[in-house]
Amino acid sequence: MRVTPITASFGVEIDGIDLGKGLSADQAADLYEIMMDRAVLLFRDQPLTSEAHLALGEAFGPLAPKHPLYPTPDGFENIMIIRNDAKNPPESEKWHTDISCDANPPFVSLLLSKIIPDAGGDTLFCDMRAVHDALSEPVRALLAGLMAEHRMDKGFDYLREMGHHDRADMLMTDAIRNRNTDHPVIKHHPSSGRPFIYVNQAFTTRILGLTKSESTALLNVIYDLIHQPRHQLRIRWKPDMLAVWDNWSTQHMATGDHFPKEREMRRVTVIADKRSRPFTEPAMAAAE
Ligand code: SIN
Repeated sequence: MRVTPITASFGVEIDGIDLGKGLSADQAADLYEIMMDRAVLLFRDQPLTSEAHLALGEAFGPLAPKHPLYPTPDGFENIMIIRNDAKNPPESEKWHTDISCDANPPFVSLLLSKIIPDAGGDTLFCDMRAVHDALSEPVRALLAGLMAEHRMDKGFDYLREMGHHDRADMLMTDAIRNRNTDHPVIKHHPSSGRPFIYVNQAFTTRILGLTKSESTALLNVIYDLIHQPRHQLRIRWKPDMLAVWDNWSTQHMATGDHFPKEREMRRVTVIADKRSRPFTEPAMAAAE
């Protein structure tokens, strides 16, 4: 394997490996270690079958069940098809981590490019460890004791904004609507121990214990850092590329600038880390 950094802070491009052949135990361990360090892995020329895509996900941990909003390839319920065309406009144009309203949000995602427009449709990632490190000591000290609320209904309110009321109603059953959680604003990675900021514009409603204007001001300090290109990397896709990312310490967004052209991606989501502690352990949750 050859490993080439994408930015000084995070992201690597990896070549010299055929992911379609499956991973040996040593390769799986190496990729896990590289991901803990660099957070986003990018592979080119990997025309993976659905079976191989799922097997790669399982090397990181158990897979998420079928997503209620997205179609799946026949016989592969754990693969989401994310498709845009003139009738299906892009939906991921807000910085987010996936499902931060859950106490244990998904650990890793594996996004495979299938149909890529000739222009646009890039995906951006932000390194939330770098965003933490960019804050001054006094602001970090203030945030260190604070919790933020993450709400499912906020994360998917774009469906109603887009007029997709049927899809919003289908998703927002009572069980799903109430998947809301408070997380510390500064988390420590359960595997690497590195601190990162854990709030996002999609799911986070407010920082608890502050006035509304104080919460908005502090969230905007963080969101301004997310918008700075120095904390980001950008993937310009070609077909058969695979991005694998740590969903805890990064955020991502799809640019949507290819609309109305066709774009199709397939995503496998890993819900938990099979090698280390969960995102929120009961004992940690009580202490946080
Ligand atoms: C996602 O939010 O996982 C999809 C990103 C993309 O389509 O580029």
